[in-house]
Amino acid sequence: MTMVFVAPSLVFAIAIASAFVAFPTDAGGGTWQLVQKNIGIVAMHMQLMHNDRVVIFDRTDFGHSNLTLPNGRCRRNPYEKSVKVDCTAHSVEYDVASNTIRALFVQTDVWCSSGSVAPDGRLIQTGGYNDGERTLRIFNPCSTCDWQEFGPGLAARRWYASNHILPDGRQIIIGGKGQFNYEFNPKAKTGADKTTFRLPFLWQTNDPAGVMNNLYPFVFLNVDGNLFIFSNNRSILFDYHNNTVVKTYPEIPGGDPRCYPSTGSAVLLPLNLQASSIQAEVLVCGGAPRGSFQQTIKGNFLGALNTCGRIKITDLNPQWLMGLPGGKLGETQR
Ligand SMILES: *[C@@H]1O[C@H](CO)[C@@H](O)[C@H](O)[C@H]1NC(C)=O
Ligand SMILES: *[C@@H]1O[C@H](CO)[C@@H](O)[C@H](O)[C@H]1NC(C)=O
Ligand SMILES: *[C@@H]1O[C@H](CO)[C@@H](O)[C@H](O)[C@H]1NC(C)=O
Repeated sequence: MTMVFVAPSLVFAIAIASAFVAFPTDAGGGTWQLVQKNIGIVAMHMQLMHNDRVVIFDRTDFGHSNLTLPNGRCRRNPYEKSVKVDCTAHSVEYDVASNTIRALFVQTDVWCSSGSVAPDGRLIQTGGYNDGERTLRIFNPCSTCDWQEFGPGLAARRWYASNHILPDGRQIIIGGKGQFNYEFNPKAKTGADKTTFRLPFLWQTNDPAGVMNNLYPFVFLNVDGNLFIFSNNRSILFDYHNNTVVKTYPEIPGGDPRCYPSTGSAVLLPLNLQASSIQAEVLVCGGAPRGSFQQTIKGNFLGALNTCGRIKITDLNPQWLMGLPGGKLGETQR
């Protein structure tokens, strides 16, 4: 696996930052403005923090970046062939208000790691590659704070997993390459949740021979307290307290994969909290036709899927409504 993708929960274009910088009025819908020509690193992952700063980070096993770490700090790269000692930064904090960059020191490989922001504003980031595959990282936002890393903080190696914050403030970490299970962070000091819990759905949606499509599953907390989990072309409602599948949703029409490496995206649509019974609806867009990844090896580059589907996950008998982006969803063709 050599492809580089952004975790779905972290998709946030740096150019969005330009929205905070004064730009000329344009009745035609705005203009792009280049705010930084070179931030020194590649924005593989980004997270907007509660203090309006953006933490950006990239894999550490792909050579030097264009930004030297301050105070003569360096990272030892036990796994990389060429760059054994690396004194460049692979993470920065972008301050939107002042349009400035501060180098951060990420010590283990965050390549295709995953994370989410805790209710107290800390970014909790887990897993990745090589020396980072079981690492737990915390970024506490403040103007001098840097990454803190704890290893091994995970019970299993997690590469391309998905994380979600739970109502009690814990984080659930689901899947990853070859991991058909989940775990919690933090773990209880005693008792059962010290380890991993099986989730056969991830195995059932794992396409064989390294094709996968069950990675970076789309995870949302439903209003009933269960988790909606979408992997490949299917989804379930999952009770993580009791490790049981509460509901199996219909396969998304067309049956093409929407998750990594086919890499569509998904969002929980805004909830109407005034409604007498609150409904939750998930929108899934894009992905790739089944077999695309293998076709690229033969030099055939298939177009991405241009369809979106939406489903009311709280319905008694939920059905997908399909449509094209820009069209009226649910009113157009499959
Ligand atoms: C970053 O790139 C510029 C322009 O190529 C170069 O002059 C500079 O030395 C580079 N800095 C680092 C730390 O690689
Ligand atoms: C699931 O577990 C919770 C507490 O752990 C319990 O209160 C509840 O009854 C369980 N639900 C089912 C459907 O077993
Ligand atoms: C949905 O995905 C599975 C693989 O997980 C595949 O076997 C099945 O054919 C797909 N459905 C359709 C209609 O293509």
